[in-house]
Amino acid sequence: MTTKAANSNNREKGFALAAPAIRVAPSLLSANFARLEADVARVESAGAKVLHLDVMDGHFVPNISFGAPVISSLRKHTRMIFDAHLMISDPKKYAASFAKSGCDHITFHIEVAPDSEEVLGEIRNCGASVGVALNPTTPVIAIEHILSKVDMVLVMSVWPGFSGLAFMHEVLPKVRELRSRLRPDQRLEIDGGMDTKTIALASAAGADTFVAGSAVFGAANCEAAWAELQRLAIESRATPGTGERS
Ligand code: DX5
Ligand code: ZN
Repeated sequence: MTTKAANSNNREKGFALAAPAIRVAPSLLSANFARLEADVARVESAGAKVLHLDVMDGHFVPNISFGAPVISSLRKHTRMIFDAHLMISDPKKYAASFAKSGCDHITFHIEVAPDSEEVLGEIRNCGASVGVALNPTTPVIAIEHILSKVDMVLVMSVWPGFSGLAFMHEVLPKVRELRSRLRPDQRLEIDGGMDTKTIALASAAGADTFVAGSAVFGAANCEAAWAELQRLAIESRATPGTGERS
């Protein structure tokens, strides 16, 4: 199966083509790895449209999580948008295999991409939409040259590599700055430490896509936890009229 074919089973594709919306994206990293299919089905049935996939290589970040084989196995069991967050040192080398495994959207870290234009082009050529991620202390100027070309910017609100860390409030000015600079068709994702309090702050600052790992899969009732985060994000949104309730 070609990459394009893998991505063309009538799913909503990537972020570029999606209508502006508030979306809470559960992170697979906090799911039970012994029952991934069931955990994904639970958040999909709750209404989640985006599944965040944290890929870690043990090099850019200290941990190793999962790779393309796990993603392609899950691809057969859900219609959710697959939002891959590559926390790996060589995103250009692996972009094609993640697109082929069924990722609709692929985000790379600017800190490991001196060749960012090439990485961006490689991801786009594979048929996925493109995101660029910033570590908590990486400034917007680091992505100035590609800001108008990406479909999404991801602001890390914890240091990458772990779930369950505390939200870093100091990234909120960066979220506000990016919201004022991005076009309406470009998504702004925030990742790390989202809970019922911090999601409201991030939404008010202008984020529209919220990664939530432990706050969703760590809850006894992950469907209710997802729905409550989604409700709070919509209620607190910076730009009214962009909520997606289903
Ligand atoms: C951290 C990952 C996050 C993580 C978030 O390196 O990029 O996506 O899963 O987990 P929580 O929501 O628990 O902070
Ligand atoms: Zn992530």
